[in-house]
Amino acid sequence: MNQYLFLSLALIASAAFADESQIKLKDGPNKDLVASNCAVCHSTDYIQMNSVFLDRKGWEAEVNKMVNVMHAPINKDDIPKIVEYLTTYYGKQ
Ligand code: HEC
Repeated sequence: MNQYLFLSLALIASAAFADESQIKLKDGPNKDLVASNCAVCHSTDYIQMNSVFLDRKGWEAEVNKMVNVMHAPINKDDIPKIVEYLTTYYGKQ
């Protein structure tokens, strides 16, 4: 009985892990910058989830909120590049 429990827990754990690795950002310039700055506190599915309703202005506000409200340690010079990437690949169409 214990062995069964262990096995099913292991299966659940590996399924969850596989799921996590499927959340990938689209390829493009500054992708690594976004990945390294925006996946520190939460996964990048937050970006995907919000891509339906954020345009350039929306992403600008979002990134600034992460910096000013959430205290994301993002280099000021990198902000426009991050906004550019998010608008291009995850902007509202
Ligand atoms: C210092 C930690 C931190 C960093 C770094 C960070 N975020 Fe967040 N982010 C948060 C927190 C905290 C929330 C709110 C979570 C919640 O409401 O459950 C959040 C929420 C969000 C949301 C959901 C909408 C919202 O406003 O609640 C989006 C989209 C988002 N972050 C995008 C980004 C992007 C893009 C970056 C990189 C520029 C980033 N985050 C970097 C902490 C961070």
